[in-house]
Amino acid sequence: MTKKTTDNQTSTMWGGRFSSGPASIMEEINASIHIDKRLAAQDITASKAHCDMLVRTGIISETDGIAIVRGLDAVAREIAEGRFEFSTALEDIHMNVESRLAEIVGEAAGRLHTARSRNDQVATDFKLWVRDAVGELDSQIQALQGALIDQAETHAGSVMPGFTHLQTAQPVTLGHHLLAYVEMLGRDRSRFADCAARLNQCPLGAAALAGTSFPIDREMTAASLGFDAPCANSMDAVSDRDFALEYLSAGSILSVHLSRLAEEIVLWCSDGFAFLRLSDAFSTGSSIMPQKRNPDAAELVRAKAGRVIGDLNALLITIKGLPMTYAKDMQEDKETVFDAADTLTLCLAAMTGMIAQGTFDADRMRELTGRGFATATDLADWLVRVLGMPFREAHHVTGRIVKRAETGECGLEDLSIEEMREEEPRISEDVFDVLGIDNSVKSRASLGGTAPDNVRRAVAAARKRFLEPAG
Ligand code: ARG
Repeated sequence: MTKKTTDNQTSTMWGGRFSSGPASIMEEINASIHIDKRLAAQDITASKAHCDMLVRTGIISETDGIAIVRGLDAVAREIAEGRFEFSTALEDIHMNVESRLAEIVGEAAGRLHTARSRNDQVATDFKLWVRDAVGELDSQIQALQGALIDQAETHAGSVMPGFTHLQTAQPVTLGHHLLAYVEMLGRDRSRFADCAARLNQCPLGAAALAGTSFPIDREMTAASLGFDAPCANSMDAVSDRDFALEYLSAGSILSVHLSRLAEEIVLWCSDGFAFLRLSDAFSTGSSIMPQKRNPDAAELVRAKAGRVIGDLNALLITIKGLPMTYAKDMQEDKETVFDAADTLTLCLAAMTGMIAQGTFDADRMRELTGRGFATATDLADWLVRVLGMPFREAHHVTGRIVKRAETGECGLEDLSIEEMREEEPRISEDVFDVLGIDNSVKSRASLGGTAPDNVRRAVAAARKRFLEPAG
């Protein structure tokens, strides 16, 4: 619930030198409470750490400190239980909390803001929020990796056409294909981890921009909030939003990965491919065509990358050209990050559901693999290996043999040895060994290759690397 001021009162927080209150439109453009109320828990945690430090350094009395912490806990409960009345007139979460604190504990509340400003306060709260958000996203990405690894294990030996240019290139195994996404997601996790590690310096105590004349202990607040150290420069501390940009950058790359997988799901579910059947829980019907099973969730994941990339762009453009240090422009930072976090959370959950519950049709994938002359490279390699032909020449000979198969509307392995010998007389019967799809994938046993045994080993390695706790 958000209440608005209708009268012309000056702000109780900063209205000392103003004789009249803000125009309602001013209040509306200035307020961020509808967005930053999501920082409530972090705001209260940071305030308690600040208060504790003020007591321990003797800047405020222990009695005041106890009252403040008790009051902050009460405010936290009111917010958690939905009893807190958020006020637009009080602009943002920081002033909403402090004003309610004053109602609960009286005069002592006014001492909490000693040696700090909303500028270092908001930077601290926001960093704490992003740090938590990174942790939550990491578990979700890991869950998706788990679903992909399970399917990869089931389909370690299921052949499918591997594509380049979306044209049949060489046979691969579905397990290998899915593990490619596991690698992408692994890099996403490490980008988020980098973001969390780099952001972990505490702005609190930078005050408005220049530091403070009070004998504060910034090491103390940094440590109690789980930061590695205080930010070294007070001006940088309040003006830095790199952590939000890094979160959005890592999020944008993740959203691009999810959208690529989503696009493949859309293709695989189409009649032309028919490789994948999504579970009923992740399919939608058409209101007019009863036969349809639409992959709406995949299409939406594909689309929502646009949103996340938009969030990154919005914040980059907002921050670009801002002079040091804080400017109100920066208040726009949170909406982009919250939106990206919510979007990614939803997309990851939907993607994990689609992958975990989807059913791949191994027979259909095999059927299509046989169609596109997928073993042409294997034939060329055979000519090189067995006949000692230079690869370029082998490429030409193979091309002519493919053309024959194409004209005869058959697969490479359906040509007779005589037909092949018309193109290259030295070809022997054992060429047929490499024209089969299974032999083809089995032969690609080089490191990182698609051979089923490789995939089985890669599945085990991926479980260790990505699903087991590091240690
Ligand atoms: N609501 C503001 C924000 O999110 C808090 C900081 C306000 N500081 C100021 N000097 N007006 O950026």
